[in-house]
Amino acid sequence: MVDPRTTIINQRLKKIRRIIAVSSGKGGVGKSLVATTLALTLAHKGYKTGLFDIDFTSPSTHVILGAENTKPIEEKGLVPPTINGLEYMSLIYFTRDQAAPLRGEDTSNALIELLSVTRWSELDFLVIDMPPGIGDAVLDLIRFVKSIEFIIITTSSQLAFETVKKLAILLRELKIPVIGIIENMKMNPSDNIKKETEKLDIPFLGAIPYDSSVEEAIGNVQKLLDTAIAQKIKEITSNNGL
Ligand SMILES: Nc1ncnc2c1ncn2[C@@H]1O[C@H](COP(=O)(O)OP(=O)(O)O)[C@@H](O)[C@H]1O
Ligand SMILES: [Mg+2]
Repeated sequence: MVDPRTTIINQRLKKIRRIIAVSSGKGGVGKSLVATTLALTLAHKGYKTGLFDIDFTSPSTHVILGAENTKPIEEKGLVPPTINGLEYMSLIYFTRDQAAPLRGEDTSNALIELLSVTRWSELDFLVIDMPPGIGDAVLDLIRFVKSIEFIIITTSSQLAFETVKKLAILLRELKIPVIGIIENMKMNPSDNIKKETEKLDIPFLGAIPYDSSVEEAIGNVQKLLDTAIAQKIKEITSNNGL
C-alpha cells in the first residue's frame, strides 16, 4: 500500500523543477555554507529558488542568511517567507533558539509534517541542507520525495571522503541520482579527492578553496556572494547546467 503522505508531499512538490539535497557523510564539512551559497547563486542567476533546512539538531542556514525576524505565514498550510530572494523554510521557526533534542521517530515526523504543509511556489530549484551522515533524514527524503538528486560535500581529508564514499554507494544502490561531489575547504594542491571521486564513477564538480574571510560574511548575503567560495560555486553551477 502506498503511504498516503507520499501523495500529499509529492502534490506539494510537483511544481518544483529540481530538488537538490546537499549532503555528506560528516558534519563540519561545509554543507550549510555550500547549500546556502548555492541557493543564493541560483536565485542571483534569475532562477526561482527555495532553501529548506532539515538539519534538525544543528540548523545553521538561518544564521548564514540573517533570517532573524522572519516567519512563515499560515494559509492552507505554511507559506515560506522570502529572504534575500529565497523562499526559506526551517524547523528553526518552530523551535527558535530552544534546543530541540528530537529522537529518531520525532525527527522523521517533523520532516514529513514540514514536507506536507509547506507551500512552495513554482520553483526552478529547491536546495535542501541535510543533517550529516546516512541517517533517517536521507532515507525519509528518498522515501517521500520522488525526484530528489544529491550533491555530496567532502573536505580534502581521507576521513571525510571515506564517509562520503559510503553515502555515494548507498545512493547508487537506491538508484538515486548524484550530480557530483564537491571538495570543500581545499588548502593544498593535491588532486587525490578528484581521482578518488572519478574512481567511484561520480562527477567531480570542483574544489572550493578555504577562505578565512567567510566568517565576516555570515549573516551578510552581499558579502557572502563576493567571497571566493561563492565565485567557485557560481563556476560549478555554470559548468553543470544549473
Ligand atoms: N570553504 C570554506 N572556507 C572557510 N570556512 C568554511 C568553508 N566552508 C565552510 N566553512 C566554515 O566551516 C564551518 C562548518 O561549515 P558548515 O557549513 O556549518 O558545515 P556542515 O553544515 O557540513 O556542518 C563553518 O564555520 C563555516 O563557516
Ligand atoms: Mg550544517
